[in-house]
Amino acid sequence: MAILVLGGAGYIGSHTVYALCEAGREVVVVDNLETGHVEAVHPNARFYQGDIADQPFLTNVFQKENIEAVIHFAAYSLVGESVEKPLKYYENNLCKTRAMLETMVANGVDKIVFSSTAATYGEPERVPILETDRTQPTNPYGETKLAMEKMFHWTEKACGLRYVSLRYFNACGAHVSGNIGEAHNPESHLIPLILQVPNGKREFISIFGTDYPTFDGTCIRDYIHVTDLAEAHILAVDYLLQGGESNIFNLGNGVGFSVREVIETARKVTGHPIAAKEVERRAGDPAQLIASSEKAKRVLGWNPQHDSLEEIISSAWNWHKNHPNGF
Ligand code: UFG
Repeated sequence: MAILVLGGAGYIGSHTVYALCEAGREVVVVDNLETGHVEAVHPNARFYQGDIADQPFLTNVFQKENIEAVIHFAAYSLVGESVEKPLKYYENNLCKTRAMLETMVANGVDKIVFSSTAATYGEPERVPILETDRTQPTNPYGETKLAMEKMFHWTEKACGLRYVSLRYFNACGAHVSGNIGEAHNPESHLIPLILQVPNGKREFISIFGTDYPTFDGTCIRDYIHVTDLAEAHILAVDYLLQGGESNIFNLGNGVGFSVREVIETARKVTGHPIAAKEVERRAGDPAQLIASSEKAKRVLGWNPQHDSLEEIISSAWNWHKNHPNGF
């Protein structure tokens, strides 16, 4: 029996496929390669290029392969773009997932683990954030992910399909092999943008806002290594295969670092002075996002291994310095 990974050529998807293959699992990958990279797909996985909303295509994959569960990463994830083009996000993240879900149900596959986000919470009421805290997204990206969660909830009631929603905080880092890493175009995430400076692709890193109510005035985030996220997906699939009920889990380290701390750590790791420029706040950024991942630890037995920021940035640097232009 195989695990079907939708979006398995993307950043978190490809790391999860690596982890599954390294654990000796049988893996089938579907990706339309719009934002993914075929080079990121582990050689042991069977790869089908196509769109998750293409029902004849996906039906063919379900018929050819013996799929026991699905892990779904196929979505757009740029917060800023989602504000400018909300319908693009509703179409891709929600409508295409709806079509995919219909195909899953029609083919009798009833277990799915999927990517959600800290953006479902919006401005948090308190930190660390619990799964039961208020969900009030401040952008269409977060709204589409929250709507996906609700769609799965109601589909479970009607069809018995079980799901696990994983709400990631700030995914970062790269696989220890150096073969795969983060390669977004355009890049919008802090750590890869910082590393563009020592790579000679950017003169300085902008610090978006220095007047937040935090200890050094810059935003605080919970940075979680992509390999630890990958591990959580395997645990979540096994939890569903063992009969676990539908559930939602935060995935983060439970420790926050400020933008200034991240830049300082990158200077230490790379040995480069990394020029920084203080600029205006970026719209929609909450001051602090820190996860409580106690539930994932307790229920799934998740135990993140890479909680040092230095280790996370070292692994990212190992990838970016050898792949300055991505794949
Ligand atoms: N930042 C800068 N300069 C930059 C880029 C980012 O100062 O050039 C700051 C941001 O303002 C923010 C922090 O660095 O305070 C992290 O920003 P990222 O864009 O790397 O990540 P976000 O926290 O905005 O976004 C992450 C995930 C999203 C998810 C969101 C939840 O990447 O997918 O958390 O709020 F939606």
